[in-house]
Amino acid sequence: MLKEKLLKVFADHPGEFVSGEKISQQLGCSRTAIWKHIDELRKSGYTLESAPRKGYRLVSKADGIHSHEVRVGLKTSRLGMEITYFDATESTQIVAHKLAQEGAKEGHVVIANEQTSGKGRLGRKWHSRSGTSVSMSLILRPELPPQKTPQLTLLTAVAVVRALKKKLGVNSEIKWPNDILINGKKLVGILTEMQADPDMVQSVIIGIGLNVNQKEEDFDPEVRDIATSLALEKGEMVERANVISAILNEFEQLYDLYLTDGFRPIKSLWEAHSISVGTYLYARTMREVIYGFAKGITDDGVLLLEDEEGKIHHIYSADIEI
Ligand code: BTN
Repeated sequence: MLKEKLLKVFADHPGEFVSGEKISQQLGCSRTAIWKHIDELRKSGYTLESAPRKGYRLVSKADGIHSHEVRVGLKTSRLGMEITYFDATESTQIVAHKLAQEGAKEGHVVIANEQTSGKGRLGRKWHSRSGTSVSMSLILRPELPPQKTPQLTLLTAVAVVRALKKKLGVNSEIKWPNDILINGKKLVGILTEMQADPDMVQSVIIGIGLNVNQKEEDFDPEVRDIATSLALEKGEMVERANVISAILNEFEQLYDLYLTDGFRPIKSLWEAHSISVGTYLYARTMREVIYGFAKGITDDGVLLLEDEEGKIHHIYSADIEI
């Protein structure tokens, strides 16, 4: 907690010295306690300058995604109040499922610096190199029938696209149902899973995997041509904690809108950011490949594809090629 407050003080005074006295007044702790935490921050990769009579100045941050580093940028009232962090874990989805079963509250977030067995859609694996990406799972407890949960996947995609635009000025696009692309290359994958009774959801686990600081050689050769990262697109390193807090801030706003006004406003935002509507595409389902014109999505997030004979196909799950 003290570390988080200390980071907040420096965030409020970018590039400036803050005296030890001022910090100790603001944080209500001794100068020795501050010195101890400054020392710990330095050991975890922060560069902090100290000067007699001036105090301390934050020169550069470590690219950490511990809970105190994420919380500095949070403006939420429910999401991220509880954060469980791992240097390495199998999959944040698996951890989040366990926490949900044990009664974790809505908004609990699981974050990992490295996943050793990350899960992708359709039973695929999700690889992300340690320290370069964002792997997080968010536990929600909406009062929804199970068939409405795909709406939350679409909401997540909108939240990520808006957060990246607002925080980093990055333009990205959504490919149905839940890939986020820049110039046709995949930046983000979203995996939504749930625990549910037949007519009511108990919890929804939203997994977000975002490529942040990967260089080309960090991607496996088979995805190198089709994947990208924020650093590759921006030409500079990006602070992962900032990205996480921006996504959670945006998510909470949209989620509140969804809970009060329903899916309609979210659907409009999704369509505005989507490259999979109003265009011809191939949908590769488990059984067949359908070519057609994507007319739109239904309120349940189902893609409506009109084939060359004018028949409308309802696509529930598929890989899309445009
Ligand atoms: C996809 O196939 O595009 C979805 C990938 C989802 C990956 C994220 S990373 C955080 C969370 N934990 C996992 O094991 N998977 C999701």
